[in-house]
Amino acid sequence: MTIHLGLIGCGWIAQTQHLPAIRAIDSIRVSACTDLDSARCAAFAAQHDIPSNAPSTQALLENPAINAVAILTPPSTHADLLVAALDAGKHVYVEKPLALTLEDCDRMIEAAQTNPHLKVMVGFNLRFHRFTELMRAAHEKFGSPHLIQSTFTNAAYTYDAGHWRAAQGQGGDIISDLAIHHFDLWNALTGRRITEVFAHQQGIDADSVSVTVSARLEDAAMATGTFSNHAIYHNAVTSFTSKGAVHADFYRFDGFNTTPAPNPVGGAGMLIARARDFVTHLPAARSIMCGGGDFAGAYRRAWAHFANCIEKDTTPISTLADGRAAALVAIAAHESLRAGMPIQTESTLVYGSKR
Ligand SMILES: NC(=O)c1ccc[n+]([C@@H]2O[C@H](COP(=O)([O-])OP(=O)(O)OC[C@H]3O[C@@H](n4cnc5c(N)ncnc54)[C@H](O)[C@@H]3O)[C@@H](O)[C@H]2O)c1
Repeated sequence: MTIHLGLIGCGWIAQTQHLPAIRAIDSIRVSACTDLDSARCAAFAAQHDIPSNAPSTQALLENPAINAVAILTPPSTHADLLVAALDAGKHVYVEKPLALTLEDCDRMIEAAQTNPHLKVMVGFNLRFHRFTELMRAAHEKFGSPHLIQSTFTNAAYTYDAGHWRAAQGQGGDIISDLAIHHFDLWNALTGRRITEVFAHQQGIDADSVSVTVSARLEDAAMATGTFSNHAIYHNAVTSFTSKGAVHADFYRFDGFNTTPAPNPVGGAGMLIARARDFVTHLPAARSIMCGGGDFAGAYRRAWAHFANCIEKDTTPISTLADGRAAALVAIAAHESLRAGMPIQTESTLVYGSKR
């Protein structure tokens, strides 16, 4: 079965990650693209040899040859586009964050429930990183973690005044854009609901902040995260159980290791174990580098998984419910910054008057 995919949004993430990943999957053909910026769309279609350059999303969705779409547009547009795509009978891959309000998340979930034969996957690419797979396997051995420590930082960027990332409340902030990947990992790696969120922030300059987020999870588990868009690139998660620790440093080829208990802190045994970990990663290093690195591999695995779910009629591992769960934590973190206190994720502050 060939999946004829339409890309909605021809911006940075479409160009740098999705298109190269999709092109590596035999069963998917990029048959059309569209963008509010028609000049950008035309240039993108010409550069990548995409047969149809649709004048609007509606025109793309009316094309009966297209059976799936990728929504690669700013967060505030995801809900309307996803509902329209499902109404038009298309499977959907939608970028994170799923949405900026719970009302929008719920609209999407409702639309998916009325179209249960269509597949919807949220693009939490870190779920498909090889270290996340290894973390899951280690947790099978050590048990579900009761403590998680995360860091995700980026270099400082400035965007043009008109760009959605530069606008207040459009999802370009550190919580909705970056931290949400780790909120999703906290959910995915523990299988536990996050019940309370407490966030602090410090402004660094007009465009940059550092944020810390502490969260209580069900069953006495906790997570803390440090996030900044004014630092060097760093992206790492460590989880702890009484049987051991599991560490994934996503930007290193040798960044995965486990420390089983008992833990001879700083002793020769631990140093030898780290040296052994490094050597263990060496054979994979060449093929990972030839394949464009771990993140390119994660996007390819995500797209292969989406295609497989359509072909085999199975449920994607990164669902709308997962997207909503991570969005809920992001909304609670924003609320905590405003209120200056911890926020229960079930509270009316988070849900607003609709609940
Ligand atoms: N998974 C990740 O790690 C990751 C990384 C970067 C971006 N993203 C996500 O991808 C999405 C896009 O980000 P980006 O960096 O590519 O942004 P971008 O601004 O570079 O591209 C967005 C494109 O969408 C177009 N667009 C806007 N509204 C539209 C609409 N209603 N219909 C059609 N086209 C529309 C814009 O003209 C632009 O070309 C965001 O949700 C972002 O959070 C995810």
